[in-house]
Amino acid sequence: MSHYVVTGGAGFIGSAIVRRLLGEGARKVVVIDNLLTGRESNLEEVRASIDFQRADIRRYEEIAPLVRGAAAVFHEAAIPSVPRSIEDPVPSHEVNIDGTFNVLRAAREGQAGRVVYAASSSAYGDTQVLPKVETMAPHPKSPYALQKLTGEYYCSVFSQVYGLETVALRYFNVYGPRQDPSSPYSGVLSLFMKAILERRAPTIFGDGEQSRDFTYVDDVAELNLKAARAKNVSGRTYNGGNGGRITLNEAWALLQKLEGVTIPAKYGPPRPGDVRDSQADIVAAVRDLGHAPRFSFDEGMRRTLEWYRQPTAE
Ligand code: UD1
Repeated sequence: MSHYVVTGGAGFIGSAIVRRLLGEGARKVVVIDNLLTGRESNLEEVRASIDFQRADIRRYEEIAPLVRGAAAVFHEAAIPSVPRSIEDPVPSHEVNIDGTFNVLRAAREGQAGRVVYAASSSAYGDTQVLPKVETMAPHPKSPYALQKLTGEYYCSVFSQVYGLETVALRYFNVYGPRQDPSSPYSGVLSLFMKAILERRAPTIFGDGEQSRDFTYVDDVAELNLKAARAKNVSGRTYNGGNGGRITLNEAWALLQKLEGVTIPAKYGPPRPGDVRDSQADIVAAVRDLGHAPRFSFDEGMRRTLEWYRQPTAE
């Protein structure tokens, strides 16, 4: 029986893909995760339905037998964060570039069906024009952005030279339940959620007028499944965003409104490597993959806040 593989499947986005696959009736889902940032608790309610393998994508021999013959591989395992990649570039280089190469090699040698790769909107850097379209030249501003872009190029080259089916999805600041707020490198909205529930001021780096196309995690999981099925897209890269643009000041204002509190944010210096504005053009993803994001920012934030409010969240 052919199976699905989700690398980083115990992580925030990977576990959402696992749940979506099972929801669609997938019978065998193999999760590859080294639990560096992933957590088994993210898979708690589906634990009995999956094959969890604690393995590291940096070690080809560990992952090759697991990937062999897969119907599709969703490659989410990564060391994220722009500032982490600036402060400590070696681990993210090894995981994001060497690890991605290993996954592609394992898929090719093991004759897997298709690799859907978690790319990043950070590849664009600062562009003159918004929204950002896939035809724009990339301008990575950090090791992380370059590492994720290199993975895209590897996907495209494996498609061209070896005929491996690949699709890369440039995620735009994904947020939602299970995003880990416990590190200074955590996604900004998870840090905002924690701050508002603890009635603390968050720190905003810069003037807070930088904007992001915050994308709800279930929309990204759905897009992954669509990308695994779409025809005539091998080797291509698509924006996996929502199409909107919210400033950090707006996001913090919404949370204060939802909680009925007034807590002015603290402001610090701008963060090195930061992109100023980010917004996806989703025309190509809608046309070729059937992308159809369902969650408005308000709705996504409400759902996420409810999740963080649970006593077991964290
Ligand atoms: C970048 C990528 C995103 C990728 C992510 C992985 C862009 C546009 N996006 O996200 O696709 O998935 O890396 O980590 O490059 N901030 C604060 N206070 C905080 C933390 C962050 O003000 O406590 C600010 C940052 O300076 C930044 C914004 O919030 O301006 C978003 O930061 P973050 O959530 O870390 O994501 P990006 O770096 O935008």
